[in-house]
Amino acid sequence: MLTVQNLSKRFGGLLAVDDISFEIQKGEIFGIIGPNGAGKTTLFNLITGNIPSDKGQVRFQDHVITGKKPHQIASLGIGRTFQMVKPFGGLTVEQNVMMGALPRHKLFADAQKAANEVIDRLGLKPYAREEARALPVGLKKKLELARALATQPSLLFLDEVMGGLNPTEVQEMMALIRSLNRDQGITICMIEHVMAAVVALCERIVVLQQGRKLAEGTASEVTGNPEVIKAYLGGDVAHAGA
Ligand SMILES: Nc1ncnc2c1ncn2[C@@H]1O[C@H](COP(=O)(O)OP(=O)(O)O)[C@@H](O)[C@H]1O
Ligand SMILES: [Mg+2]
Repeated sequence: MLTVQNLSKRFGGLLAVDDISFEIQKGEIFGIIGPNGAGKTTLFNLITGNIPSDKGQVRFQDHVITGKKPHQIASLGIGRTFQMVKPFGGLTVEQNVMMGALPRHKLFADAQKAANEVIDRLGLKPYAREEARALPVGLKKKLELARALATQPSLLFLDEVMGGLNPTEVQEMMALIRSLNRDQGITICMIEHVMAAVVALCERIVVLQQGRKLAEGTASEVTGNPEVIKAYLGGDVAHAGA
C-alpha cells in the first residue's frame, strides 16, 4: 500500500532520517519504535509532505507522493495525528473536527454530519461544544485522532497517541485502534513508546536508532533481537514485554 525507499533528511550536521526503506501492507497495523530523537516523527513528516525529503521516494498505491503538498497527500487518503497536539484552542471540539471533515465535503452540513459521526464514535459527544483548550490531555489526544479520522483516511499515521494517557485511557485507545483497523478497514502505522500496546497491536515493527533502521520484524522477533535490546531496551529484556 505504501512503499518508502531510501528516504533521507538532514538537518544541518544531523542525519535525522538516514536511508530508510520499508513497506506497509494494506490492512495491517505497522509499528515504528525507537528512542527519543531516533527520527520517527521526521519520518512521518517526510511521508505526509510536512517537510521535504533530501533523497528517496514514497509511493502510495499508484501514486508517487514524494514532493506533493500535505493537502494533496491527505486527499489521496493518508491521514495523520501530530505528536504535539495543537487543536485550535478557541474553537470547539466540533469545529476542530470540522477542520478535518470540510475538505471531504461540498456542503457544510454534510461535513458537520460527518464530523459528528466521528465525535460520537470516539465518545467525544459530551464535549462537542466545549473549547478545545479546556480539555485534559487524554481528550486532546482523542480530539486529534477525531480530526485525523474526519479526513477519511485509508492509511492512518499515529504519532504517539498514547503519550500522556493513564492506563485506563491506554486500554481504551488500544481497543479503538483495533476497531478502526478491523471494523473500518483502516491500515495503521503507529509510532508508540508504550511497548505493551505496540506488541499487542502491531503485526510488524521497524526499529529506528539515530535515523537508521536497526531492525524489522514481528513483535517477538524485534523484542528478542539482541541489538534492539542493547540499543533501545537498555539491555533489560524484561522491558520488552513491559
Ligand atoms: N525541524 C528540525 N530542525 C532541526 N532538527 C530537527 C528538526 N526536527 C527534528 N530535528 C532533530 O532530528 C532528530 C530526530 O527528531 P524526531 O524525528 O523528532 O525524533 P523522534 O520522533 O524519534 O523522537 C532529533 O535530533 C531532533 O532534534
Ligand atoms: Mg517524535
